[in-house]
Amino acid sequence: MKFLGFTSTGVVHLLTIYTGAAIYQNGVSQNTFQEIKEEIAHYKDVAKAIINLAVYGEAQNRSYERLSLLVDTVGPRLSGSKNLEKAIQIMYQNLQDDRLENVHLEPVKIPHWERGEESAMMLEPRLHKMAILGLGSSIGTPHEGITAEVLVVTSFDELRRRASEARGKIVVYNQPYVNYSKSVQYRVSGAVEAAKVGALASLIRSVTSFSIYSPHTGIQKYQDGVPKIPTACITVEDAEMVARMASRGSRVVVQLKMGAKNYPDVDSFNTVAEIIGRKYPEQVVLVSGHLDSWDVGQGAMDDGGGAFISWEALSLIKDLGLRPKRTLRLVLWTAEEQGGIGAFQYYQQHKANISNYSLVMESDLGTFLPSGLQFTGSEKARAIMKEVMKLLQPINVTQLFTAGEGTDISFWIQAGVPGASLLDDLYKYFSFHHSRGDTMTVMDPEQMNVAAAVWAVVSYVIADREEMLPRN
Ligand SMILES: *[C@@H]1O[C@H](CO)[C@@H](O)[C@H](O)[C@H]1NC(C)=O
Ligand SMILES: *[C@@H]1O[C@H](CO)[C@@H](O)[C@H](O)[C@H]1NC(C)=O
Ligand SMILES: *[C@@H]1O[C@H](CO)[C@@H](O)[C@H](O)[C@H]1NC(C)=O
Ligand SMILES: *[C@@H]1O[C@H](CO)[C@@H](O)[C@H](O)[C@H]1NC(C)=O
Ligand SMILES: *[C@@H]1O[C@H](CO)[C@@H](O)[C@H](O)[C@H]1NC(C)=O
Ligand SMILES: [Zn+2]
Repeated sequence: MKFLGFTSTGVVHLLTIYTGAAIYQNGVSQNTFQEIKEEIAHYKDVAKAIINLAVYGEAQNRSYERLSLLVDTVGPRLSGSKNLEKAIQIMYQNLQDDRLENVHLEPVKIPHWERGEESAMMLEPRLHKMAILGLGSSIGTPHEGITAEVLVVTSFDELRRRASEARGKIVVYNQPYVNYSKSVQYRVSGAVEAAKVGALASLIRSVTSFSIYSPHTGIQKYQDGVPKIPTACITVEDAEMVARMASRGSRVVVQLKMGAKNYPDVDSFNTVAEIIGRKYPEQVVLVSGHLDSWDVGQGAMDDGGGAFISWEALSLIKDLGLRPKRTLRLVLWTAEEQGGIGAFQYYQQHKANISNYSLVMESDLGTFLPSGLQFTGSEKARAIMKEVMKLLQPINVTQLFTAGEGTDISFWIQAGVPGASLLDDLYKYFSFHHSRGDTMTVMDPEQMNVAAAVWAVVSYVIADREEMLPRN
């Protein structure tokens, strides 16, 4: 079938679209892998058209420009904040103005926490003002603060061994950075573990791959039956200095003041838009990123980039006049940073249709130059995805890794739906993550173009293939 597509300036692209002559018997695919390979290879010209539009054509730098306008206008978008609600309203309008289909908001109740004023002053062995960021959901201190001697540990094991020394102290965790998923346990559970051994507060070395005296915030969790104590992150530099002081036998005393407060949940929304499928409209390929962020910096990288390349994927496909067989659904999640609150509700409300989700995709690890896709799915699905990645040869992003991930798509992946996430330079990502440095300055328009092209090609081809991705 020959297909005419128009860009916004009326440039005509001639695209050959494979008609997808799959043979079904009792609902089971009878296609051999050779046939599947050929089917996917037929998307070569479509993939090139998407790449050309995103990387070299009319859409060059569009996702970057759109993102910078939003984050410069609204700023950071903390769960429960007016900024987040403003961003959702703007995106709702943007997606309609972009003439996407079925643009709507799905209501969700989300947490509302505010950090208030906060400070930490080292009083002994010398006066030193420490940079801190309170952790999401932490309680505050009394108005006069908490002044106490510090106990420095490098691990939960060391804390347990030295439990008798912790009572009445402020526990400082100086855990080394191993990787995010390992080291973040200290941020998430540091307060609970310190409270169990009688500490008054906890200060946690920021979970980051690099530091220029930057504290990095993030969510922490209290546990039922364990006293709630205030908790904040400190810089790598201060954590190491406090550890050196303690190892020399110095008594370290810190005064911690935090005005943090938890308020009742507020109304928010997941923001949804679609290109409705032309043959199997009930079947879905989902592309996503989260619209909320922490309250420092601009939330440009985490996850403005992921949200905007996901929007861009639909824009690119629409601009080329393409309409896949299945529905391509964009979801901009709310309150991801509080533990995937919007995504969990979406899963609860949509899981009845789980058999019709071919692939769930989330970009939440940066939109720098992609090294490839992380993917979780059956061996058969992986083999198909490898073929799809070959279509990205023109931009040299052909690698398919294991372990597709993303807080917001994890519910689907655990339930057996194939899942894909964009992988790039994680050292850079975790250098700026959840810090004041997460601004447009770390974003690169040309890298976003490539990321958007990867996202659009993969989502389009999987949505347009005759068959859904096979599961286990
Ligand atoms: C896109 O951004 C790159 C890098 O900043 C710049 O060189 C190029 O001129 C931009 N293209 C457009 C169309 O603005
Ligand atoms: C992180 O490090 C831990 C401990 O070394 C390791 O078991 C785990 O596989 C690593 N995770 C990732 C995602 O690399
Ligand atoms: C599930 O699919 C059915 C039909 O296939 C559709 O009518 C319904 O709206 C879908 N439900 C959700 C929550 O998407
Ligand atoms: C799945 O999609 C098919 C075809 O589009 C539709 O007939 C069916 O009702 C859907 N099933 C569910 C559970 O949504
Ligand atoms: C293509 O990507 C591979 C793997 O990421 C890399 O090693 C190689 O240098 C790249 N080639 C070009 C021409 O950029
Ligand atoms: Zn994120």
